[in-house]
Amino acid sequence: MENKTIYILAIESSCDDTSAAVLLNKKVLSNVVATQKIHQEYGGVVPELASRAHQQNIVPVVHQALMRANIDKKLLSAIAFTRGPGLLGSLLVGTSFAKSLALGLQIPLVEVNHMQAHILAHFIDGQDYRGPSFPFLALTLSGGHTQIVLVKDYLKMEILGETLDDAVGEAFDKSAKILGLPYPGGPLIDIYAQLGNPKAFPFPKPRVAGLNFSFSGLKTSILYFVQKEVKANPNFVLENRNDICASIQHTIVRILMDKIKEAVKQTGVKHVAIGGGVSANSGIRAALKSAEKKYGWHVYLPKLEYCTDNAAMIGITGYFKFMQNQLTDQNISAKARYKI
Ligand code: KG4
Ligand code: ZN
Repeated sequence: MENKTIYILAIESSCDDTSAAVLLNKKVLSNVVATQKIHQEYGGVVPELASRAHQQNIVPVVHQALMRANIDKKLLSAIAFTRGPGLLGSLLVGTSFAKSLALGLQIPLVEVNHMQAHILAHFIDGQDYRGPSFPFLALTLSGGHTQIVLVKDYLKMEILGETLDDAVGEAFDKSAKILGLPYPGGPLIDIYAQLGNPKAFPFPKPRVAGLNFSFSGLKTSILYFVQKEVKANPNFVLENRNDICASIQHTIVRILMDKIKEAVKQTGVKHVAIGGGVSANSGIRAALKSAEKKYGWHVYLPKLEYCTDNAAMIGITGYFKFMQNQLTDQNISAKARYKI
């Protein structure tokens, strides 16, 4: 079965990136991502504008993906698409497009869970490792989700813990907004954090039982802290930007590391992988690498291009589902809330 030649066209449109990829089995032939800049003006993703931008982008993005892969669409074995979770209007664009194209080409359709795809991105060929061995723990860190998942097999996953309020990406983005940084602020906090002192401003860590997370209290304490300091010195943020960012990042990384350590303790599983946009963060990557040495874990960090939203991860998930004959029929609809 592994030796078969499977070409998958994958489509991702769950949030504010329109993406299409072509995979030959587990190898990525093309992975085109059109990031919607329009949301920067509003300080966050505006769902209605996202749907419209997907509508404009989807045809050229799919066309580009096929061109770069240098294959004719008649060669495609199946079309994989993100069914959810995500913004419904955005998901509908990719879902409708995928269904129509599969119908036109008379080929199978494979629906994909976006969070499962962030985890299976580790199995894309061409990373520096062969993919984690089962079972492993996956920490999914994105703008909409924060979960600890026990991955028993490619398509067998169990959520052990998740956020009770804001996602970790939101914690980064909302903190950045308080500091007056543009959306999405996560990558900017990361850049400034690398120039600052992580111990400059201690922020409290939330107390949450078990393997669940909470980030909304942190956001509030950052807001109150900044408001208080700015009252005394209007230039406080400007003068201390790097130290504030380093302190915020340090606190978030400590929250994540405490929970993943607890998950390792509870399960006895020492293989740890991360996925989702925030797994691009240099702080969490460094903390995991040092835990690997200190505790004898095996840590898997995906390539940066497969951390943030992309269709290649939808393609690899589609490939595994296709190989297990988990196909979808034309009655399928998008699902904004969709558990792994
Ligand atoms: O997975 P993703 O691309 O989209 C969702 O499915 O939500 O994640 C986007 C999130 C945003 O909150 C963005 O600020 C954050 O990932 N992000 C980062 C970094 N790169 C992206 N946060 C912190 N440090 C980074 N380097
Ligand atoms: Zn994502």
